[in-house]
Formats: sequence, C-alpha cells, structure tokens
Amino acid sequence: MDIVDSIEAMRALRKTWRDAGQTVGYVPTMGNLHDGHLSLLDRARAQCDRTICSIYVNPLQFDQSKDLERYPRTLEEDMEKLRALGADALFVPSDTMIYPRGMAHATTVDVPGITDILEGAHRRGHFVGVATVVCKLFNLVQPHVAVFGEKDFQQLLVVKRMAADLNLPVEVIGAATSREANGLARSSRNGYLTDTERDKAAEILRTLRAVAHALQQGEREFAELERSAAQRLADAGFEPDYVTVRSTLDLEPPHDDEGPDAWVVLVAAQLGKARLIDNLRVADATPD
Ligand code: PAF
Repeated sequence: MDIVDSIEAMRALRKTWRDAGQTVGYVPTMGNLHDGHLSLLDRARAQCDRTICSIYVNPLQFDQSKDLERYPRTLEEDMEKLRALGADALFVPSDTMIYPRGMAHATTVDVPGITDILEGAHRRGHFVGVATVVCKLFNLVQPHVAVFGEKDFQQLLVVKRMAADLNLPVEVIGAATSREANGLARSSRNGYLTDTERDKAAEILRTLRAVAHALQQGEREFAELERSAAQRLADAGFEPDYVTVRSTLDLEPPHDDEGPDAWVVLVAAQLGKARLIDNLRVADATPD
C-alpha cells in the first residue's frame, strides 16, 4: 500500500492511475478505522480498479476544541487494517497542506440551507468545515467514486449537494450503516462509552424502529411521535438533542406529496461522554 504524505506525491500517483486508464474509488476518513469504514472501502473496491483512503482529522469541522483534542488517533493500527484489506493507497495530508494560510484565512465552501438545520444547528460551522475539506480532498484525489456512510445522513446529503452544485466530476455514494450486534451504529466516538453505556445505546435503534413502525402503520402526528421518542431516550438516561422525521430529499419536515418511504427518522443524543447520532429510513425498518 502506498503511503502518500505530500500533494506532489498524491498528484503523481493519481497521474499513474489515470495514465493506466484505471478508475479510482475513494473513502475519506478521520482515522480510528472500524468495520464501518472498512465496509465503505469494500464498496469502493467493488466499483473501481483502485481504492484509496485518506486519514485527516479536520480541525475546521470541530466546533469544540476539547472534541478535537481527544479525537482518537491510531495511525499505525489504521495502516495495518488498510493493508490487510488490500487498499492501494492511504493519503495522510497535514494541516499545512490543507490550510496553507491557516484556517482563519482559508477559502471555504458553504452549502446553504441544508447545513443550517439538525447537526448544523447544534454544531455551528461544522458543515462548512466538512464541505471545505471534502472539496479540497476531491480536488487532490480526483476520484471517480467517493463512498460515505449513511450513518452521517446529513453529511452525505451535504456532500452530494456540494458535488452537484460545484460540478465536481465525482459520483458520491452512500453505504448502509454498519452496526454492532446490539444495533449500535459503529462510530469512532463509541470509544468514549463505558460497557454499560454501550449496552444502553441499543435503545437508539429500538427507538428509531418504534417511530418508523408507527409511521408505517399510518401515524401522522409527527410532533407527538418525536416528543414521545425523545422522552423514551431521556427515560433511558440519554440527553436527546433531537428525534425527528424528515424527508430523505432535503431533510425538511415531510412534504405533503410524500409517503413514509420517502422519510427518515434521525436522532442525536448525548450518552455519558459521547454524542451519538443515528438514523433509519422508514422504508428500511423491518419488524422487531
Ligand atoms: O465523516 C468523516 O469522517 C468526516 O466528516 C470526513 C467526511 C472524513 C471529512 O472530514
């Protein structure tokens, strides 16, 4: 596996692949790789001749410096996992490569509207950081296909819209959320949970399923459904930021001309030291 740690080396590798007529599948990450990331890489490999992953803990997308400082950094283990999986290259840019004039003076990418709600409302500036770094990484890696996890549903829509609005020649693909045996969505932040909290975190998927089933059965009192789901999580020991039913199209409240197959239930809640997010498309909710 090639370890690429400069912009020049990235461009040279990309040229080699282009000259050989090979398609490139890309998975951008912030490292601390788990099975969820590895499934994204599998997805990229299924579609492309070459697969490349990047690891960059992007300071611009963190709204709290404490969260950035404690973010798990496990580069050696990550490299082993990627090698074992047969990735062709790992790109590890530095802060000065991504923000040569410093973050305060960086040209940024703002995707209006969809970034102001839900996670954007709770984490000010987060999506400007995400859209900016993903745009830069796309320009450096120049992938044909880029794979993002559906766990970060809003991020996936933001990146898709950014790529479409800026006419970036990349196909952005969402891959199904990878889950622990108890249903907890895999995330690097799960490492902040105690064993007891990990068990308790199974309640998130159970709550999402309960809301989705109610919608499948014709319930349309959205505000009441959301309120009682948030209460269920609070009773279980979470501090919910939101439980909400939205359109998969634009994350606005369900549109009049849509049915439940076009809806997704999203949740964000604090449990101990971890802020957990998850979602379930109503169409994907199977009976318990
Ligand atoms: O989902 C992530 O890990 C990050 O937000 C991403 C897409 C790598 C951008 O920094």
